[in-house]
Amino acid sequence: MRILSGIQPSGRLHWGNYFAMMRPMVELQAQGEAFVFIAGYHALTSVTEPAKLREAMRDAALDFLACGLDPARAVFFRQSDVPEVTELAWLLSIVTPVGLLERCHSYKEKIARGIPATHGLFAYPVLMAADILAFQSELVPVGQDQKQHIEVARDIAIKFNNQFGRVFTLPEPLIKRELAVVPGIDGRKMSKSYGNHIELFGPEQEMRKRIMRIVTDSKPVSEPKDPDKCNVFALYKLFATESEARAMAERYRAGGYGYAQAKEALFEKARAYFAKMRAKRAELAAMPERVERILAEGAARARCEAQKTMRRARQAVGLD
Ligand code: ADP
Ligand code: TRP
Repeated sequence: MRILSGIQPSGRLHWGNYFAMMRPMVELQAQGEAFVFIAGYHALTSVTEPAKLREAMRDAALDFLACGLDPARAVFFRQSDVPEVTELAWLLSIVTPVGLLERCHSYKEKIARGIPATHGLFAYPVLMAADILAFQSELVPVGQDQKQHIEVARDIAIKFNNQFGRVFTLPEPLIKRELAVVPGIDGRKMSKSYGNHIELFGPEQEMRKRIMRIVTDSKPVSEPKDPDKCNVFALYKLFATESEARAMAERYRAGGYGYAQAKEALFEKARAYFAKMRAKRAELAAMPERVERILAEGAARARCEAQKTMRRARQAVGLD
């Protein structure tokens, strides 16, 4: 089975990215052919400073490798090192109805936030479809907010296959219900753009500060609390085993357990969870040539696959 996902290097990666996309990808790399990439071209629709993009590209590579992506199993590459993807995006744009793109929530939400409505932003889902279809991907692990983009990729593949003959595999999103929307410290979806995120590898004291700022209701320590209405518990559950989560839920319901204590428990859990990865990240950061080699090898393997698809697509449309 072919599994693929990508991440936009548009800032530091956070817990939402990790639980919805990075961890599933790391888990799945043993079960199929995993392709993971850093979507620099997508990031360019929002990052305007070259130095920032460079830094975010480097950080995303370190973060992924630190989180356990194994370059011996998974193909790990930069989108911009595989020119077949942008070439394919044009062929796909030929069959993409404007109305399909106009309906994309993410586009509408971005222009509502004041991001200029450029062609790149509008065509973002077409490039994403090319990322997915170039590798004949079957399964695409993402968070809920990307579901519509995968559906667009599928629609585009169907249109192309109907018009030119069967070239593309139809992809499916993989969204685990309990991870579909990881809450941020204010209870909305965790997102860089809301500034409510907790960075994966920011300084530990900063992580603690952010955890202490998680919004809760104002029930006093003595009062029983509902764990299922609490953001601290929702985040704790992501790290904890089932029995640990049950134990915390019981403490909430019994009363005499305060939010500050729950936050402290969350901090300790998160710190321990990421400790090894943090150390690995520091090691990798000191070996930039090794990281570069991994990405270059990944790009070579990725290109080989994308070229196969491109040959078929060019032939299908009559450009062979
Ligand atoms: P952001 O919203 O911070 O800009 P991205 O759009 O770059 O994050 O998301 C990268 C990946 O992480 C996507 O697969 C997205 O669905 C997932 N993701 C991001 N934030 C969350 C979240 N809070 N809950 C679940 N998945 C998320
Ligand atoms: N748009 C995705 C995001 O914001 C990143 C992405 C680009 C992607 N191309 C992809 C994800 C292909 C999955 C498959 O996170």
